[in-house]
Amino acid sequence: MKRKVTKAVFPVAGLGTRFLPATKSVPKEIMTLVDRPLIQYAIDEARAAGIEDFIFVTSRGKSALEDYFDLAPDLENALRKAGKTELLKALRDTNMDSGAIAYIRQHKPLGLGHAVSCARKLIGNEPFAVILPDDVIAGETPCLQQMVEAYQETGGSMVAALEVSPSQASSYGVLDVSSQDGSLVRVRGMVEKPAAGTAPSNLAVIGRYILSPRVLQNFSKIERGAGGEIQLTDAIAHELTEGRDVFGYLFDGKRFDCGSKAGFLQATVAFALARDELRDELAAFLDTLHTQRQAAQ
Ligand code: UTP
Repeated sequence: MKRKVTKAVFPVAGLGTRFLPATKSVPKEIMTLVDRPLIQYAIDEARAAGIEDFIFVTSRGKSALEDYFDLAPDLENALRKAGKTELLKALRDTNMDSGAIAYIRQHKPLGLGHAVSCARKLIGNEPFAVILPDDVIAGETPCLQQMVEAYQETGGSMVAALEVSPSQASSYGVLDVSSQDGSLVRVRGMVEKPAAGTAPSNLAVIGRYILSPRVLQNFSKIERGAGGEIQLTDAIAHELTEGRDVFGYLFDGKRFDCGSKAGFLQATVAFALARDELRDELAAFLDTLHTQRQAAQ
């Protein structure tokens, strides 16, 4: 059965160890690309896809995230008095309707799958989206919107798929594909973090999903997987063993892995170069750096 997707889960309970010491006190999702935190890009993408209910799976030390989506009446008043309408508008994007946002705690970081399963009571019996805010995707049509449109035709469960090199495959969940029709691939198997040389394809799963609520029931049927964690990939793959459809969607857009330092820095530069007020100065600086590097070689 195909239904409207109105709920999204944002699993943000990970430890963010790759960004220590910063993430000792700053949640990874609050780190900014230029002047907007990663979580704002994720929320904007969800809104564009028609999401109305936002479910955050959080952990200790993530209260800055809750504050970020709260009203800031003093700040808004000061900006209003000063006539700073552009800044007021930027601030309003951070406001959520009362009741539209819910926070659930994952008490132990047992893995992405476990984090998603913590939201099961709020999801109920509806298809739902999962967005990992550290995967930032730039493009004309937001990635989740592309997937929601494709999902209206397919039903089942759907994961965002990205072509990666064989050497990168062992860092991802990888799809075993039976057929392809344009941007859509039919999945017949999924392996989380395959050992080098054993990946069934070069199509990796990245952080956008539209899932059948049945996936939530699969957590009681699967064991701990790669890294001793309860893996979302394994719960989705279980759909296949029960004869249900899983699709991969080859989205249009440039994905930045903002969970890694190199990816985060690349996204920072790309997003800054996309801004009119920053482009010229930053491009000139990058040119100078490049020339200096070449001269030093
Ligand atoms: P990562 O694999 O990037 O882990 O999680 P991490 O803890 O965020 O970062 P590192 O690897 O230690 O630097 C992918 C997504 O899954 C969430 C994370 O918050 C991130 O959005 N996650 C992961 C959870 O919510 N709970 C978990 O137990 C594990």
